[in-house]
Amino acid sequence: MGRRVVLSLVGTRPNFMKIAPIQAALARRPDEFEHALVHTGQHYDDEMSAVFLEELGVGDPDYELGIGSAPREEQIARVVERLPAVLREVAPDVVLVPGDVNSTLGGALAAAREGIALAHVEAGLRSFDPTMPEEANRMGADALSALLFTHSPEARDNLLREGAAPEQIHEVGNTMIDTLFAMRGRIAAAAAPQRHGLEPGRYVVVTLHRPALVDDDALLIETMEHLAALADEYEVMFPVHPRTRRALERLRAQPRQEALRLTPPLGYVEFLGLVADAAAVVTDSGGLQEETTALGVPCFTLRDNTERPITVELGTNTLLGLEPARLRDVPELLRRRADAPTKQPPLWDGRASERIAGVLARADLTLKPRSRLNAATLAALRYPLVPMNVCGAAAKSSTAAS
Ligand code: UD1
Repeated sequence: MGRRVVLSLVGTRPNFMKIAPIQAALARRPDEFEHALVHTGQHYDDEMSAVFLEELGVGDPDYELGIGSAPREEQIARVVERLPAVLREVAPDVVLVPGDVNSTLGGALAAAREGIALAHVEAGLRSFDPTMPEEANRMGADALSALLFTHSPEARDNLLREGAAPEQIHEVGNTMIDTLFAMRGRIAAAAAPQRHGLEPGRYVVVTLHRPALVDDDALLIETMEHLAALADEYEVMFPVHPRTRRALERLRAQPRQEALRLTPPLGYVEFLGLVADAAAVVTDSGGLQEETTALGVPCFTLRDNTERPITVELGTNTLLGLEPARLRDVPELLRRRADAPTKQPPLWDGRASERIAGVLARADLTLKPRSRLNAATLAALRYPLVPMNVCGAAAKSSTAAS
């Protein structure tokens, strides 16, 4: 068998940490793999993209699609429109898409349209909340995938329930945690808390960016007020996502911000350095729920649900609900949990990417997607999948494939 050509698609900040260690694992097996990296450009600011590619050793992408900011459907449609030319040039045996962002679904639909085997990294996560665009993105990617790489047992159960075949599912572990393991030395050496004048264990790190929270003015104001109150007990370090920055600028009544330490988005090493020594993290991010579990740092999630229940069951995560008033409980919850032991989910051991490379080397890439979900079902979710013509194309190729 000749070398397998793998094409990975990234688009947003959390994608880079998920693909970097896979790219490295494939590069360690040059006799078996060729790899091409495509960046959709969904995240395009240096501080959301270039900094990460450099720090994580990913380097410049081989292709850039430049999709930029746009409404969800437009972002997806741009990937579906622009990726096929790259797919024809690279002629990959398999397309790898990570996570649940708009770029992920665009990549999945384009691969399906071109009849190329798709592999989804971080498959099977479900929040069971159809109002989240990420839920439609991950269900769509799973429904179109030949290979499903999962990082927790419940992900496998979700996929089987939706009709995936057992031979499609590979429980490999968490590639985002591979990156954390690989970068630990650099993270510690960077001494981020000291550089920010923060005392380890005496500050809280905050990140917020989900539309459900930051696009709702009343909720955002309420959240900022409660964070300011939390700042009476802990320093509050809040690197602000571009979506959130704009939402804050739009507000008519400016909430109390002087008590908080607001910064632009931080690089990977600096940010994880702050998280590693924090008393706690307050967030609505998916990835951070996992990273805090791996680091043993208490995490309070301002959402009604999580697609990562393992971080609640075994780990450090507490779901507060989309109820900023519950931030009042954080100091007391922290005192009570003190040094509560937490467990690491199985296979979050820094070696997930090696396992993925092992599977990619030998997998049967003619496996057909088997999910009972198809593009039409997905289009019925509250967030329309993609414009009708693209749906039609996706439906055609998944029918052709079955
Ligand atoms: C996206 C993902 C989300 C992920 C998050 C991580 C979707 C549906 N959402 O949300 O799952 O957790 O990334 O950050 O794919 N912007 C900039 N500079 C950039 C990128 C974006 O200013 O480099 C602005 C855009 O103009 C837009 C806003 O940020 O106004 C939102 O960007 P977008 O990529 O649509 O979604 P995120 O909120 O970042």
